[in-house]
Amino acid sequence: MKFIHLLLVLLPLLISCTDDSRTPGTETTVLSLISDEDRRPLVHFTPPQNWMNDPNGMVYYKGEYHLFYQYHPGGTKWGPMHWGHAVSTDLLNWTDRPVALFPDEHGTIFSGSIVVDAANTTGFKSGSEDPLVAIYTSAGAKQTQSIAYSNDRGTTWVKYPGNPVLPNPGINDFRDPKVIWHESTGKWIMSLATGREISFYSSTNLKEWTLESVFGKGLGAQGGVWECPDLFPMKVENSSETKWVLLVSLNPGGPNGGSATQYFAGDFDGSVFTPEATTVSWVDYGTDNYAGVTFANIPPADGRRIMIGWMSNWVYAELVPTVAWRSTMTLPRELTLVKHNDRHQLISTPVAELSNYAGTAEMVAVRNNQVIENHETILSGSYVMDFSVPFASGDSLSITIGNAIEKFTILFDGMNNKVSLDRSKSGPNTFHQFFNAVQRAGLGDAADTKKLDVKLVVDQTSVELFWNSGKDQMTALFFPKYGYNQLKFSWTADKSVLSEVKLVPLKKSVRK
Ligand code: FRU
Repeated sequence: MKFIHLLLVLLPLLISCTDDSRTPGTETTVLSLISDEDRRPLVHFTPPQNWMNDPNGMVYYKGEYHLFYQYHPGGTKWGPMHWGHAVSTDLLNWTDRPVALFPDEHGTIFSGSIVVDAANTTGFKSGSEDPLVAIYTSAGAKQTQSIAYSNDRGTTWVKYPGNPVLPNPGINDFRDPKVIWHESTGKWIMSLATGREISFYSSTNLKEWTLESVFGKGLGAQGGVWECPDLFPMKVENSSETKWVLLVSLNPGGPNGGSATQYFAGDFDGSVFTPEATTVSWVDYGTDNYAGVTFANIPPADGRRIMIGWMSNWVYAELVPTVAWRSTMTLPRELTLVKHNDRHQLISTPVAELSNYAGTAEMVAVRNNQVIENHETILSGSYVMDFSVPFASGDSLSITIGNAIEKFTILFDGMNNKVSLDRSKSGPNTFHQFFNAVQRAGLGDAADTKKLDVKLVVDQTSVELFWNSGKDQMTALFFPKYGYNQLKFSWTADKSVLSEVKLVPLKKSVRK
């Protein structure tokens, strides 16, 4: 971590704020004030400057992953939306490209998707490359859907003169088209957020659309408007079965308040989506994973389903304390689908490419309540921690990262069957009261399996927590004033040393 200032502070000045279980003998501690640039993560995408929200138009084409995103080039708060653009060959090291789509007479450019029109169903093809076709919401007086195309691998874009291709039928919230090719009916299918429902439209040429069905009235979480759907088939792990998954973000109404993403598993016949259950399943229980959708056109030989979400929450996104830029994307996560207690459940794990940015792994022996201080990896502020420990119902284990005066605590509470994140003392947090609320999720099957396995990715200002092999996850931001240089584990179980905690430092991947 690059520190602008180094402040030497005597511990007695801070004694009232320090953790009373600190190890004796550390009478002085270094608090290093961190800068705005220090708040930029090392392996997560952030805009070069100004405001960003949802990921848009994520597509793989000829060796490049494209990430477009909701972008306001004129400021660090939400404003007239454009599509920003970055490309990567490994999902982590991104190169910025010029803004791809600008507002026009139909409105500003809200969220949407991109497909590769390999069969030239649109007739847009003009050279040797397959046309990339963007389908997005024009946010004018009414929300309508428009298209634009690129014949040069996403470099330049031409808006279709016949826009909008899907006029507004009288629904206020009518946006965020995600289009896929539906193999067995030979049609394009658009999932569109319409109020608190998802409407499915079909087309043979991306220009004329027919309403097939509407899904979701009264189903799943209904605490807010539905946004940013994504519908895709997934092979069920260890089975020959295929199920369809429908991601639906909603704002507000998340499990810990504000915006969040739910999903439904079920079947889709090219016209109607039939869920296997109507109760809610959350992609992520944390407050900072929203509007996530998956990449189009990943080659079959790769076969992964890769999701990126916006790592913020509409409650406070415009207020978080960064200066030149605002908002971060989640790590790209590989999704898999497993059958668990008669339901199909999504599993998320950071993509394997993350290991390209891993430093030397180290096994650290951790003692109960011991503060590990100034360890090189922890000081770097960006690392992956993995461990797996026996865990019985009634056990509890907490992980605290921080410095002498700031801390972020994760608690696995087997007594109450809960996992909680507490960032109320993690750093400057007066920008919104909601930021300080403790976030909770169910412990999942840790007590049943008698094992707690955890993967924690810390990257300067974010924590992505995966447990139960990625079946459960929580993502949360924090904004320390001083660099974190401490780690502490506390637990109730009878083991005196956890020798199996693996720490892997992360190296800078973004904009090398
Ligand atoms: C979700 C969202 C979308 C909309 C976009 C506007 O975060 O509200 O529904 O298209 O952001 O920026």
